[in-house]
Amino acid sequence: MSFRFSVRTGWDVGESSFAAAIREARLTGRRLYDLTVSNPTVCGFSYNAATILAPLGDSEALVYDPDARGMRRAREAVADYYRGHGAVVDPDALVLTTSTSEGYGYLFRLLCDAGDEVLVALPSYPLFDFLADLEDVKLKPYPLFYDYGWWIDFAELQRRIGPRTRAIVVVHPNNPTGHGTKAVERQRLEEICAQYGLALIVDEVFLDYSLHRADTEELVSFAVGPHPVLTFVLSGMSKIAGLPQMKAAWIAGSGPEALRREAMGRLEVIADTFLSMNAPVQRALPSWLEARQGIQQQILERVRANLACVEGMGLEVLRVEAGWCAILRLPRTGDVAGELLQECGAIVHPGAFYGIAQAGRVVVSLIGPVEDFTAGMKLISTATRGIK
Ligand SMILES: Cc1ncc(COP(=O)(O)O)c(C=O)c1O
Repeated sequence: MSFRFSVRTGWDVGESSFAAAIREARLTGRRLYDLTVSNPTVCGFSYNAATILAPLGDSEALVYDPDARGMRRAREAVADYYRGHGAVVDPDALVLTTSTSEGYGYLFRLLCDAGDEVLVALPSYPLFDFLADLEDVKLKPYPLFYDYGWWIDFAELQRRIGPRTRAIVVVHPNNPTGHGTKAVERQRLEEICAQYGLALIVDEVFLDYSLHRADTEELVSFAVGPHPVLTFVLSGMSKIAGLPQMKAAWIAGSGPEALRREAMGRLEVIADTFLSMNAPVQRALPSWLEARQGIQQQILERVRANLACVEGMGLEVLRVEAGWCAILRLPRTGDVAGELLQECGAIVHPGAFYGIAQAGRVVVSLIGPVEDFTAGMKLISTATRGIK
């Protein structure tokens, strides 16, 4: 009998042609300008090593005394973080996870049976496909449209709701569009969730990275009530404190009391099955949260500088309100990312990577070192200048 793997892992695991082209370009020794770097730990930010590492040595972490939801002290620190955002979060309605990805996994298991559906925005975060596959959940994309800012196409969203739909995912502010969900949109989402019996899953990892544009609504956390429907807010250290390597995140549950209690009880059992959080990280989490401003200010300054650089070159950037990246609209069609790599050694994400169908869109990270970013952007500007 021949061997058979699970259907859910039947991905094409080969190297994409774009990844192969980058690998080959690197082998030639040619100077490349990687405009996709989104790992803050390699972008030249100044981290306070003592503040970050010292709490990991807390000897109390030698005792194994697990709490399925995560250590109380860490959950209280997270509740404190939300207090700063004007939200009252009950530490007992929090579950700590190693990442928001793990949080999605827990929530998909909580809400969905195999074959059930979850609505996600398009364009959005590409990892959703894999997170859904792993939990046997089907993703149904709902389109966002761009009209001097990004908006949810509610007619299409509603059209995609079926008998197996269980939840709507919102990334607030969204990656890669860098826009927040407006108050009227939140209200409409909640009405729809109430009407169809759906949960709302809100990923707020970039919440603290608003550019505070004068012509934009301020970002308000979905943790701020009231919560007419079952709502789960996800966030964590990877963006809030620029510490993706520490693996600490959470799910904050809210909603009608009985429903929320039932949800948190079930989530606790899921978390208890894995007990994936380690003790030193949970002990350190309060001090990382407390020190977050130091890294957030550096990242925001970098984002502003890089955004000003690309806008100053006359390249068309779709309006960014928040977050770490930007979508460029280049006067080209075809394989723009592949061409830019060949022509000028600039590495950008093809728009298709995020589900952007329109031609000429590429996505760049705004947190890379300013010099490299500027040099890469100049090359892109020169390569595309005059082609309209
Ligand atoms: C929208 C969004 N959510 C979550 C994550 C990852 O968070 P974590 O490291 O906690 O899984 C990312 C990473 O880029 C992201 O863009």
